[in-house]
Amino acid sequence: MRLLAEHGSLHGKNILITAGGTREAIDPVRYISNRSSGKMGYALAQAAAEAGAKVTLIATQIRHLPYSVSLIKVESAQEMLQAVQDQFPQQDIFISAAAVSDYRIVHPAKEKIKKTGKNDLTLVLQQNPDILADAGSHKTGHQFVVGFAAETQNLAVYAQEKLVKKHADMIIANDVSSTASGFNSDQNQVTIFQNKKTAITLPLQDKQKLARGIMTEISNSIQ
Ligand code: CTP
Ligand code: CA
Repeated sequence: MRLLAEHGSLHGKNILITAGGTREAIDPVRYISNRSSGKMGYALAQAAAEAGAKVTLIATQIRHLPYSVSLIKVESAQEMLQAVQDQFPQQDIFISAAAVSDYRIVHPAKEKIKKTGKNDLTLVLQQNPDILADAGSHKTGHQFVVGFAAETQNLAVYAQEKLVKKHADMIIANDVSSTASGFNSDQNQVTIFQNKKTAITLPLQDKQKLARGIMTEISNSIQ
């Protein structure tokens, strides 16, 4: 591990990665979230550490990590945005692998909501800030920004739209309609889109191997 870290292709680079589904509070004991396991983000953190990078992981779940990775635990999209904004200026690479909730509850209850007297419950939601787009629009010359695109249809079209709209340098697109890949699976298959470059498809494989393949593509792109 130490040998790899000293000689890896990302030696000396600072990498920031987000992982997992954000949790949007309904009240002190309940939240809205999604099916993301955080496995892909954690696999990327492991692969980046193996490649010699100094890794900071901002995550909503706790999983096993190499001791060298700095972990920042967050819950909501707003907390994740704050943590990313604090860390981003020191980074060479940012990978937004988190499944950020698109919406949050406008007024989370201060006390546990009681069901007594209520047959229906209406939660009013508002859109969350876009963390990847925020980083993309603030990046300076040397910084490389990578996003994911989880799609159930029109993968290439939607991924390329996200590349442009979020000022990202790379979008890693995966088809979450298939049960073999995506959200809660141990395996994944992705297609990597970059501006003015031919898309690269990495075949269905274990998320840890795939993460190494993605790190190789990122490393090739920043050389
Ligand atoms: N993302 C983000 N902040 C958000 C929403 C998404 O940083 N509020 C990031 C994700 O981490 C991912 C990329 O944007 O890297 C694409 O996420 P995705 O959910 O596929 O796209 P959205 O822009 O949210 O569009 P939609 O869900 O409508 O397809
Ligand atoms: Ca979304």
